[in-house]
Amino acid sequence: MTVELRRSTRCSSAPKSVGSLSADGRSQQLETSESRPERSFGRARQPCTSSSIKGPMADGRTSTSTLLDPRVFDVASVFDTFGVGIYCLDREARFTYMNPAGQALLGWPAEELLGEYAHDLIHHSRPDGSPLPREECAFYQAVRRGATRRELDDIFWRRDGCALPVVYTLAPLHADGQHAGAIVMFADESERRRDAELLRISTAQQAALAELGLRALGAGALQDLLDHAGASVAKQLDVEFSEVLELVDEEHGVQLVAGVGWRTGTVGAAHVGLDSDSQAGFALACDQPVIVKDWRAETRFQAPPLLSEHEVVSGAVVVIHGRDRPWGTEPWGVVGAHTRLPRTFTAEDIAFLQAVANTLALAIERGEAEQDLRQRNTEMTELAEQVSRLADERRRVMADTLDAEDRTREQISQLLHDEVLQSLLSARQDLAAARAQQNRRATDGAVARASDAVVQAIAELRNAVAALHPVTLAQGGLAAAVRATAEIYARRGGFEVTLDIASDTGGVRDQLIVSLARELLRNAAEHAQASHVTVTLHRTADEVVVEVADDGRGMDPGRPEEALARGHVGLASIAMRVEACGGRCHLTTRPGEGTRVQLALPAEEASSPAARPTT
Ligand SMILES: Nc1ncnc2c1ncn2[C@@H]1O[C@H](COP(=O)(O)OP(=O)(O)OP(=O)(O)O)[C@@H](O)[C@H]1O
Ligand SMILES: [Mg+2]
Repeated sequence: MTVELRRSTRCSSAPKSVGSLSADGRSQQLETSESRPERSFGRARQPCTSSSIKGPMADGRTSTSTLLDPRVFDVASVFDTFGVGIYCLDREARFTYMNPAGQALLGWPAEELLGEYAHDLIHHSRPDGSPLPREECAFYQAVRRGATRRELDDIFWRRDGCALPVVYTLAPLHADGQHAGAIVMFADESERRRDAELLRISTAQQAALAELGLRALGAGALQDLLDHAGASVAKQLDVEFSEVLELVDEEHGVQLVAGVGWRTGTVGAAHVGLDSDSQAGFALACDQPVIVKDWRAETRFQAPPLLSEHEVVSGAVVVIHGRDRPWGTEPWGVVGAHTRLPRTFTAEDIAFLQAVANTLALAIERGEAEQDLRQRNTEMTELAEQVSRLADERRRVMADTLDAEDRTREQISQLLHDEVLQSLLSARQDLAAARAQQNRRATDGAVARASDAVVQAIAELRNAVAALHPVTLAQGGLAAAVRATAEIYARRGGFEVTLDIASDTGGVRDQLIVSLARELLRNAAEHAQASHVTVTLHRTADEVVVEVADDGRGMDPGRPEEALARGHVGLASIAMRVEACGGRCHLTTRPGEGTRVQLALPAEEASSPAARPTT
């Protein structure tokens, strides 16, 4: 629809078309009368214009509605009813008309505007307050040139000095085809721009919180996170000072551990007391945000030196929660924002601060939990090292014991060989001589028996000497040593022995294996009353297995413990030595069903074959 403005019939000359405004404000063509127009400012002065509406007809021609005949239609009365601001300018860009809505928006009464340059009154400065000369003003230039202009992001200055964000449309006015001025329609954009700004701020804060959250989840140092939080608070809330204060104790209050804006050396050093008249102390005590609008008018708290020295005027702090304790939640500290100019902290500002504080609280709690875990891990590691040291010690003691056992055996063997055996040999010598000198018949029986007994004793003693002496193991290998030992106890226990010794069982544990087999064979000889004993040695992928099984009388499975309580340590010492080197023991027995002891020792690098070739 096209609105055509015409001079009112009340004007001195005949009306001429003065222009048209489309309903959407885009196509505009205004005409003025030839005569100088009467100035019209709002309702106070009745305009001398009227309007009619031309609507496109079906055939494309334009007709003039008789209802809007310029003789009866008052265009200013139409403008006066518009909710948007409308004003007219002459070709020098001086006000000739301002509707009431425009007057209200700009705070200028119409009578003060009449004849004044629009640029000088409402468009003289840029949004940042710097002067905008006419020659640089696109708005002014458009009026002068008779150009059309549409601006979505501009400001008009109000009478009270405040900027009014506006969107406007400027259209030229013509008289007799000559440029005569301009008409401007403008609307208040403050609310929309405020909403857009709030949305921008909120989006930026959400992004900042998301980044802080990501950092809080990362493995970075807590101090880096606190520093980042301080910088983020200052940036997102657009404040000069931000702070992260950590609660130290009653005496030292809270310490400034991060933040921006403070004098060099303040962060990390400054403390704030926790008196009831301190803002941080109050926030911690009440566990709620505390806002100070203007410290100069504040009556609840005293500004701490940290704030007064930095000439802080406004500020807000919120609590960073700490760990849950049996007596309640213990606060960790506070996070805050402060300004040198009076500032109103909105609910959104406080919500942002609280979200930062909560993110920090989670990161701090997680950090402390990880610290605990690390501490426990360290303790466990130390404990494990201690256990390992003890195990080494035990192994060393075992080795020393075996060495001592070996030495003792060697000494006994040596003693038997050097003393007893030599005495028996000399006795055999004497008996042989006596047998030769004396009457063979009279003495034959006694001397011969004594001589045979001595020979027999010598043979047995040689066996014992060989079995006892470690050189048997060193020279004959594991199989020979076990066989020699088994034969001794077979004779002593009166049983038959079967040996099943694999050739790949020799290794660094030979000495231990011989010692264990000896202990088990001794038990078989002393307790089993067996007729047959089997000694088996074989190797699996990672173990050497020693088994001594007899067909004797067996025992109650609880018997070894009873015996140990009475000082019989044979089986217990076997178990201890096997476990000391990481092996396992298994005893299978029942009264009347024989006894089987199986020992599995971790195999280590073979150092010697089980059976060595004899030379
Ligand atoms: N092969 C076995 N047959 C029957 N009983 C056994 C056998 N081996 C051990 N025992 C029983 O288990 C007990 C514990 O044996 P262990 O070797 O620990 O002690 P010990 O032989 O009595 O004394 P120590 O070995 O200290 O000289 C023995 O006293 C015996 O009653
Ligand atoms: Mg024993």
